[in-house]
Amino acid sequence: MRTQVGIIGAGPAGLLLSRLLQLQGIDTVVLENRSRDYVEARIRAGILEEHTVQTLVDAGVGERLQREGLPHDGVYLQYPGVRHHLDFPSLCGRRVWAYGQTEVTKDLISAQLHDGPPLLFGVSDVVPEDVDGDSPRIRFTDADGVPQVLECDAIAGTDGFHGVSRPVVTAGTGGRLWERTYPYAWLGVLADVAPSTDELVYAWHPDGFALLSMRSPSVSRLYLQVDPGERIEDWSDDRIWTALATRSALDGWELETGPVTEKSVLPMRSFVSAPMRRGRLFLAGDAAHIVPPTGAKGLNLAVADVTLLATALTRLLAGGRTDLVDTYSDRALARVWRCTHFSWWMTSMLHRAGDDFDAELQLSQLRRVCGSEAAARELAENYTGLPVG
Ligand code: FAD
Ligand code: DHB
Repeated sequence: MRTQVGIIGAGPAGLLLSRLLQLQGIDTVVLENRSRDYVEARIRAGILEEHTVQTLVDAGVGERLQREGLPHDGVYLQYPGVRHHLDFPSLCGRRVWAYGQTEVTKDLISAQLHDGPPLLFGVSDVVPEDVDGDSPRIRFTDADGVPQVLECDAIAGTDGFHGVSRPVVTAGTGGRLWERTYPYAWLGVLADVAPSTDELVYAWHPDGFALLSMRSPSVSRLYLQVDPGERIEDWSDDRIWTALATRSALDGWELETGPVTEKSVLPMRSFVSAPMRRGRLFLAGDAAHIVPPTGAKGLNLAVADVTLLATALTRLLAGGRTDLVDTYSDRALARVWRCTHFSWWMTSMLHRAGDDFDAELQLSQLRRVCGSEAAARELAENYTGLPVG
């Protein structure tokens, strides 16, 4: 088997890369170790930056997103007694969209299986080889248990945090890793109830952070700060709704409740691995970096990486020019660190940890963002997404 770019992992990063390269006439094969059902059911991110939406629309996979995605012109920041609206269009001229990562993934998979390059689910034993030369290959076992070799001109490691690609890059480049774990996690809930607010609410509370988000006019997505060791069995639906109502309480407003259809505890970490390239193996998305979810950056950052990588690989494979692949890692990492800082900052401002001194610093920062246009603009510019490139 032969292709120009072998892509490991069919998350949003790998699928979108395949689509962008197809539009430039570059062949790809995408290898995914899970089943299609599993990949499509994974509930994860929900907020898309304008750049992400535009990229999906331009790639011809934004039709349902434009029909069903919910545009948001801002967010509410809340602390006891205050719910303050930040208006993104007036602060920075941009907005964001609520549209689940599950739906982005379904749209990309359906386009790829309809008229796109091969996408193989259920493969195993995936190993990138000879990545330092110009003819790397990927060894894998297909879904029928038959060993295969995929000869390539380049390989994209878009196989997420637990994938096989990053260790190959790190081992061959003497790369560096930076990591920060947080003393809290998120309990995420999906519920069949209309959102109780028009925009997302990020709430600071002495009991811990709460986030009210949404997936559609009839489905809410809600999060609570919990201890990382918390067991989901200990959180009955009643306990979840009581905690959400307490942490988002405001005079004259009530949180609507409804049947919980999914709940799980999500770990939180910051992680950056550099460089994002070894020879002809290029990392993109969660394979190279993880941000805590508070700024809604993970999926958007994966899309930004892939936008840079698609252009660089097209230039290499269709034009024989190495300039953009040579600078890919540095250009991607500059944006990664900006998003890493923003996500850390939002996380640190909104989650309860430490002592009363820390709490007063957090509240002072929140009052500053709500009271100063300059401070609000800084949040708005980062939240809606800084330019890619
Ligand atoms: P992934 O989506 O992880 O895709 C990688 C793919 O590679 C997967 O399909 C995996 O099965 C496949 N793979 C792995 N190993 C191999 C292998 N050896 N061979 C072949 N295929 C392989 N971000 C937010 O902004 N907001 C959120 O609320 C949010 N919640 C999240 C909750 C969870 C539980 C997780 C894990 C992440 C969450 N994120 C969130 C982050 C966001 O979902 C990711 O940033 C995004 O999925 C990155 O896309 P990706 O394609 O780089 O990686
Ligand atoms: C969602 C997730 C986030 O991390 C965030 O900051 C906002 C919304 C969501 O899943 O809807």
